[in-house]
Amino acid sequence: MKKITIAIDGFSSTGKSTLAKQIAKHLGYVFVDSGAMYRAITYYAMKNNFISETHLDTAKLIENLPFVTLQFRVNEALGFAEMYLNNENVELNIRTIEVSRLVSKIAAISEVRAKLVEQQQEMGKNKGIVMDGRDIGTVVFPDADLKLFMTASTETKAQRRFDELVEKGQHVTFEEVLQNVQERDYIDTHREDSPLVKAEDAIEIDNSHLSKKEQFELVMELVNEVLQEPSEK
Ligand code: CDP
Ligand code: CDP
Repeated sequence: MKKITIAIDGFSSTGKSTLAKQIAKHLGYVFVDSGAMYRAITYYAMKNNFISETHLDTAKLIENLPFVTLQFRVNEALGFAEMYLNNENVELNIRTIEVSRLVSKIAAISEVRAKLVEQQQEMGKNKGIVMDGRDIGTVVFPDADLKLFMTASTETKAQRRFDELVEKGQHVTFEEVLQNVQERDYIDTHREDSPLVKAEDAIEIDNSHLSKKEQFELVMELVNEVLQEPSEK
């Protein structure tokens, strides 16, 4: 069967990664959470004091970018890929609210985006990939066979992310998470380089009232339609 490229973009905490993982598992495709890469660069910048709540040394970060390597390595026991920064497993470090607070500032830096987009395009060159992020259908894979754009109500997004962080044992308040989700969506949609926008040919899905199973079933219908089209791309 032909292999396709699936691009999933949308606002924060709208279930993009969950959906991308579901589809990739079902089709035996590679799943790439591009947000993890921006989070890993942010964690690197935090560790090296290039960024904090009160300062950002863009020049220093750019100067050091050639020395940063990012890799996804599959954890066979868990059955999914984890993020490695310069050979160190940072999967847990990159999911904290502290990283969430700073990541959109780092993701607005063009040099950071150029480095990560190049690596993402390399990962997708053989198709058979589901990647989620903010610019996947617009910049990374403008020729993707299927593009989805995920939305959900602000309340739903914040509640989902809050529940997830609490379950992971992180100490956060609902207000804090709500503010972070709103702030990130604002910066991501208003930045100059590759802002979050719906690609013209993307299909918008509001999953505020869809369970994970429902969203998967809905999207698999779209995936199957594309898989049945005669291949030309
Ligand atoms: O999981 P969540 O939607 O909260 O965020 P994420 O996918 O982990 O992405 C974290 C941040 O990275 C986003 O808020 C964006 O600032 C940035 N990002 C981006 O600019 N471009 C991408 N393709 C993916 C993420
Ligand atoms: O990748 P993104 O930030 O868009 O969202 P996610 O990490 O896939 O999902 C955020 C949270 O919402 C996770 O805890 C999912 O399990 C949950 N979720 C949900 O409850 N219902 C959905 N239809 C989709 C996601």
